[in-house]
Amino acid sequence: MKVAVLGAAGGIGQALGLLLKTQLPAGSELSLYDIAPVTPGVAADLSHIPTDVKVTGFAGEDSSPALEGADVVLISAGVARKPGMDRSDLFNINAGIVKNLVSVCADTCPKALIGIITNPVNTTVAIAAEVLKAKGVYDPARLFGVTTLDVIRANTFVAEAKGLNPQDVDVPVIGGHSGVTILPLLSQSGATFTAEETAALTTRIQNAGTEVVEAKAGGGSATLSMGQAAARFGLSLVAALNGEENVVECTYVEGPGEKARFFAQPVLLGKNGVEKVLSYGDLTDFEADALNGALDTLKGDITLGEEFVKA
Ligand code: 2OP
Repeated sequence: MKVAVLGAAGGIGQALGLLLKTQLPAGSELSLYDIAPVTPGVAADLSHIPTDVKVTGFAGEDSSPALEGADVVLISAGVARKPGMDRSDLFNINAGIVKNLVSVCADTCPKALIGIITNPVNTTVAIAAEVLKAKGVYDPARLFGVTTLDVIRANTFVAEAKGLNPQDVDVPVIGGHSGVTILPLLSQSGATFTAEETAALTTRIQNAGTEVVEAKAGGGSATLSMGQAAARFGLSLVAALNGEENVVECTYVEGPGEKARFFAQPVLLGKNGVEKVLSYGDLTDFEADALNGALDTLKGDITLGEEFVKA
């Protein structure tokens, strides 16, 4: 199994590379690419960790050598938020980066499963889809927005609030990966909450990325927790490709389109990527209202990406 990380010298990419070097199945290959010249050095550094995972590193303008034969591509390249910025403020720079990298994926590894981490995810996934479509290789089952960070945050905060072990909590998070479009289904967490607790926890999960941006005070956004989330998601893709059954993750995919063209919800993963988009079950009135209130934002984010590629 070959996993490529694009943006591998950045804060997310380095954390992700470390976790994949230590957790990918024996015999895997980890291919690191970043425009930054340090990238072969990051690969050399990781290569000294004694696991049976071969690491290679590529720097410069051309990402294609890193993508040859890749089964899974995780894209974290781009710029991060500073205090006062919304994820959509990253659009101008990151849209072009994702467009270029996905275009090389289309030419070099058109069958790879692609996970997009680069923000604004609600929009960059739509950009990736349109680029792949223009190249004639788009398969909705092979393109994912990585929204796992919302799930692990929800698990952590619910566990904190209820005195539980976070490993025992699994909160589905649906919608998108920005502000009000992030909708944790606390009613399905197994814990019970008052209406006030539900509202406060939902808001905290929606704003958790901003919590980190503000705490880092200009030094960037979440990198370590995002690296952990992306590693979990990437390892799930690898497990599913290797034939493991019942691998389910919440992820932002082009599914049946009942709510929006792209929508995060539980997905059964398999050898071809999306095996089945699963139902997210019944919503409480609070959750249904929150979802209805978020759909215009989510659809607007998607349209922005579609129009960027058309233009
Ligand atoms: C976050 O949610 C970086 O978007 C990422 O913190």
